[in-house]
Amino acid sequence: MKLVGLVGWRGMVGSVLMQRMREEGDFAHIEPVFFTTSNPGGAAPAMAKNETTLKSATDIAELSKCEIIISCQGGDYTSDVFPKLRAAGWNGYWIDAASTLRMEKDAVIVLDPVNMHVIKDALGKGVKNFVGGNCTVSCMLIGLGGLFQHNLVEWMTSMTYQAASGGGAQHMRELLTQFGTINSAVKPLLDDPASAILEIDRQVLATQHGMSAEQTKQFGVPLAGNLIPWIDKDLGNGQSKEEWKGGAETNKILGLGADFGSKAIPVDGLCVRVGAMRCHSQALTIKLTKDVPLDELTDIIASSNQWAKVVPNTREASMKDLSPAAVTGGLTIPVGRLRKMSMGNDYLSAFTVGDQLLWGAAEPLRRMLRIVLD
Ligand code: HSE
Repeated sequence: MKLVGLVGWRGMVGSVLMQRMREEGDFAHIEPVFFTTSNPGGAAPAMAKNETTLKSATDIAELSKCEIIISCQGGDYTSDVFPKLRAAGWNGYWIDAASTLRMEKDAVIVLDPVNMHVIKDALGKGVKNFVGGNCTVSCMLIGLGGLFQHNLVEWMTSMTYQAASGGGAQHMRELLTQFGTINSAVKPLLDDPASAILEIDRQVLATQHGMSAEQTKQFGVPLAGNLIPWIDKDLGNGQSKEEWKGGAETNKILGLGADFGSKAIPVDGLCVRVGAMRCHSQALTIKLTKDVPLDELTDIIASSNQWAKVVPNTREASMKDLSPAAVTGGLTIPVGRLRKMSMGNDYLSAFTVGDQLLWGAAEPLRRMLRIVLD
């Protein structure tokens, strides 16, 4: 059995990955080696077989024994350790959740239900670096990949509603703490049915404005009862890095080139952080390459893979099935609000929601492991 090194398995993405690997019986196919940045020599988790102690995640010799390494440790770790491993002559498969290597020429962004052909082609050419995509992009492509596969997308805009978890575990905690602080501030008024709503509103605003640097350490401003229309770095051209990733990664995943060459499909939009927990939602405007009837588009989306699910464009179904609360914890990516827009029959509106810790992070990695093992 292949020695598979697991790094960052205790963090949020890593924990979801471990859970999914247990659910899918992945550990039966590998000899896992658990690495740690904090506790070398400690006891490995129950899934360990022969390697029952934790190895140091910076020990290049120990890492080099693995034929495959999966890292959920983050970008700083990848930047530090990956070049040293390759410089030491390690020729194994590197499967990574971090964005560090995503756009490198010798790396493939993995999302096999959508780009198995790109992955297989790369494996055939000896590519050894496989990286999970940006969560928003991966969730969008699992939902709407069928339209791209049928060459139906001339361009697309994506307006996102991204959850706190995209920032990390501490961001989720901060959001909930902020909600609690706000609730405490107005609880006596809320409990009094005769209190004035505008007084409650005034106190909520005063509480938001009064939040300390400590209370907004992760997001920089209050997110509870608020939103933040900027995610990731400022690229200096009016675009956020998250928005740039939408176009660059979509095209790289589809094998159309990431450099916006002649084959690339323009994908751009506006990324917004909202107070959801772990599901990213997006409202899409799709310019179709031709006028295709809505029922055909629906069939194409629904049949593109087993996880994309079309939600009927009704008020009831949208409220029930097309929300973060409905989707969290599952692999299904619902696509709804499908309708032709008033701009013309070649303009399609859609809304989709995905668990950013599953298809957005852990799932493509464990599936890539199985592809390498096959
Ligand atoms: N950049 C994403 C976010 C995280 O901040 O929501 C997952 O790629």
